[in-house]
Amino acid sequence: MTGAFFDSFYATDPTYYGTDVRPEYLAFLDSLGVAEPAILDLGAGQGRHAIVAARRGARVTAVDYSELGTKQLAGLARASGLPITAEQADVTRYEGAPEHFDGVVMVSLLSHLDLSAVQNVVDRAFDALTPGGQVFCEAFTTEDPGFRHAANVSETAGALSTYFAPGTLLPYFSAFEIVSYREFVEDDFAHGPAHQHGVALLVGRKR
Ligand SMILES: C[S@@+](CC[C@H](N)C(=O)[O-])C[C@H]1O[C@@H](n2cnc3c(N)ncnc32)[C@H](O)[C@@H]1O
Repeated sequence: MTGAFFDSFYATDPTYYGTDVRPEYLAFLDSLGVAEPAILDLGAGQGRHAIVAARRGARVTAVDYSELGTKQLAGLARASGLPITAEQADVTRYEGAPEHFDGVVMVSLLSHLDLSAVQNVVDRAFDALTPGGQVFCEAFTTEDPGFRHAANVSETAGALSTYFAPGTLLPYFSAFEIVSYREFVEDDFAHGPAHQHGVALLVGRKR
């Protein structure tokens, strides 16, 4: 899969995945305990999480391999004066500034990577964090209907390559102190036909 796949969906709607974020994400931003935290959003898409962070005072670097998503987010940041730098890059090769970021966000990213790339991307997130900095990660689990039925579940489910069996996301974050972790199944009405996701939601702190 490449960024062009997501371009075709982002062309249809400037907020393709909606604008809602979880309360846990807001709690994560608050828990960083920094007035103007530096945030790295990997797989930022059109900036759903980057925009919320920037509106709450963060300086955000948003990385995605979708050319259109990156352009849309850069344009929005320019027009609204939000401190977001949108970079088009493949996260498996992206070199973030080491020990620079107070928070790293990865929402629905790891499940779009080959399993063989997951540890490397998590390690890069770890390296990019300041000591005490935190990661907010959401990935899809094998409880996700897409795990068994793939493209039939939603129009973008075909882009997913990695579903984590219960408990198997955690070992990739063994360098982190786990602040919170839970797995659940939820409805998704934000895009395409109503569908469900199996979600693993993890917050970890760099020791
Ligand atoms: C389901 S979308 C989620 C977007 C955003 N995080 C959100 O929650 O609204 C997944 C995003 O990951 C991006 N992505 C997937 N693999 C990537 C890679 N190897 N490098 C950069 N971006 C990637 C896609 O382009 C897409 O924008």
